[in-house]
Amino acid sequence: MDLTARYANLHVSNHPVMAHKLSLLRDRSTEPKKFRELVRELSWLLGYEAMADLTTQPITVETPLEPTGGAELEPKVGLIPVLRAGLGMVDAMLELMPSAEVWHIGLYRDERTLKPVEYYNKLPDAATVQVCLILDPMLATGGSSAATVDILKQWGAARIKQVSLIAAPEGIATLSAAHPDVDIHVGAVDRALNERGYIVPGLGDAGDRQFGTFAGPASEPGHSMGDEAAEVVRRLQRNLSS
Ligand code: PRP
Ligand code: URA
Repeated sequence: MDLTARYANLHVSNHPVMAHKLSLLRDRSTEPKKFRELVRELSWLLGYEAMADLTTQPITVETPLEPTGGAELEPKVGLIPVLRAGLGMVDAMLELMPSAEVWHIGLYRDERTLKPVEYYNKLPDAATVQVCLILDPMLATGGSSAATVDILKQWGAARIKQVSLIAAPEGIATLSAAHPDVDIHVGAVDRALNERGYIVPGLGDAGDRQFGTFAGPASEPGHSMGDEAAEVVRRLQRNLSS
């Protein structure tokens, strides 16, 4: 689904390697070990694209032959993995930017209300970085992402980017409406949310698939959770089409 004409802040990768690896990630037979490897590889590719507009400052480098002009990244960058699923994206991003600071935010999504619940935040009083990259493989309703942006703006982050492997149109709409200044970098935009707020076709539960925490049929993404979650999804879908 191409939503880039509608949302100026949305950046969808069109790299063939991204498409190839995302297909392997989606496959239900991909085991946690392979799943984690793919999350890492995809994060590297997406991180590379998300950092394309970071500013640099000129430096001089001494090659073995002579001095030459070079560049170094200018802003201090913070990586903000959203626990749990965002953890799998950190190492690849640190490979790209070894000097980045990593600040964890703990949020889980209440599966009945689909609202984010904060449980971990050790940010110091004032922002220590200029650019924050929120790392979370899934942008579904957008509730977790919008809440994380709220936290980071209150902290004083000057620039914020959301980096997600897969997004739903509903989540892009929610995040863009709440925070139009936040760039959204994704590997793919999927069709919709199901009545439990899972992205379809999606990949299921990104946290469970990384960490092997499968709790049985009642917790599976296709299992009905009752009216409240379904009503939230219907409201988001009405907003999207209005
Ligand atoms: C998942 C995912 C996001 C959130 C996305 O986390 O990693 O943080 O859901 O959903 P939203 O856009 O509707 O808010 P989850 O709540 O499953 O927690 P976990 O990472 O600990 O499994
Ligand atoms: N969280 C996930 O892990 N997957 C989804 O599809 C939605 C939220």
